[in-house]
Amino acid sequence: MRHLLSPLDLTIEETNTLLDLARDISKNPEKYSHVCDGKRLATLFYEPSTRTRLSFEAAMMNLGGTVLGFSSANSSSASKGESVADTIRVVSCYANICAMRHPKEGAPRVAASKSAIPVINAGDGGHQHPTQTLTDLMTIRELRGSLNNFTIGLCGDLKFGRTVHSLINELIRYENVKFVLISPKELRVPDYIIETLDEKHIEYEVVEKLEDVISKLDILYMTRVQKERFFNEDDYLRMKDFYILNKAKMDMAKPDMYVLHPLPRVNEISIEVDDDPRASYFKQVQFGVYVRMALILTLLGLDKEVR
Ligand code: CP
Repeated sequence: MRHLLSPLDLTIEETNTLLDLARDISKNPEKYSHVCDGKRLATLFYEPSTRTRLSFEAAMMNLGGTVLGFSSANSSSASKGESVADTIRVVSCYANICAMRHPKEGAPRVAASKSAIPVINAGDGGHQHPTQTLTDLMTIRELRGSLNNFTIGLCGDLKFGRTVHSLINELIRYENVKFVLISPKELRVPDYIIETLDEKHIEYEVVEKLEDVISKLDILYMTRVQKERFFNEDDYLRMKDFYILNKAKMDMAKPDMYVLHPLPRVNEISIEVDDDPRASYFKQVQFGVYVRMALILTLLGLDKEVR
């Protein structure tokens, strides 16, 4: 039985196969509409979510399966003190696969160690968000045609933004991907990520001003400042509007520089950018359904049935 706790749980070949499957699903959805008949997905969300939870639910329903779960710790027996380990043993009796979001780093790994069903990490604290990474990979591949040979700027809260951590970990496996890490000093990527980039001799630069580097980017990955991970409200208020991508900044970018954002957006992308053909964050949301469909099929061992 396989789980997905980190993007690196899939080899690069498996990732590319999954992205091929996601593309086939996007082109031929009817072919997949009954593959999960009789299967159940449990969504165990101890933290708020719109996209990840609903896209998992849409994914399972698109495959013919059904869903059950909870959308906050307060509406589950976690509020009475039940552990993640006990919860997953119980949920294993009700469902065939589960997606778990939890504020504590490593909680999905604990669940996987006690689970009788595949566990998917749907975001654990400031750590990893592997299905967002698969979504980002599909978006980049569909827009650019390749996951090799480009420069990506990651901008905003690179300290707490788990989507950034997962995406860097993944993209260093591809060829000639250069990173521009754009953040205020206080929100730089954790040292362990810089150490990995250094160890693997990956080209990167660390900057504070988006205007200084936007013209060299092929992809701009914007992120929001993660209010829920700050200990101090004043620090959040000081940082929250540090970056605002607007039309003037887009005018400085390449004509084919795509803008991605895992969403939710707060102020960091002005709504005037939404109509720019390079703004790709809502396309990204749709790709998120296809990759989660492909992932459910892969972890349930049903991916070969429809080839
Ligand atoms: N991108 C993302 O994880 O969004 P949600 O928090 O709404 O799931």
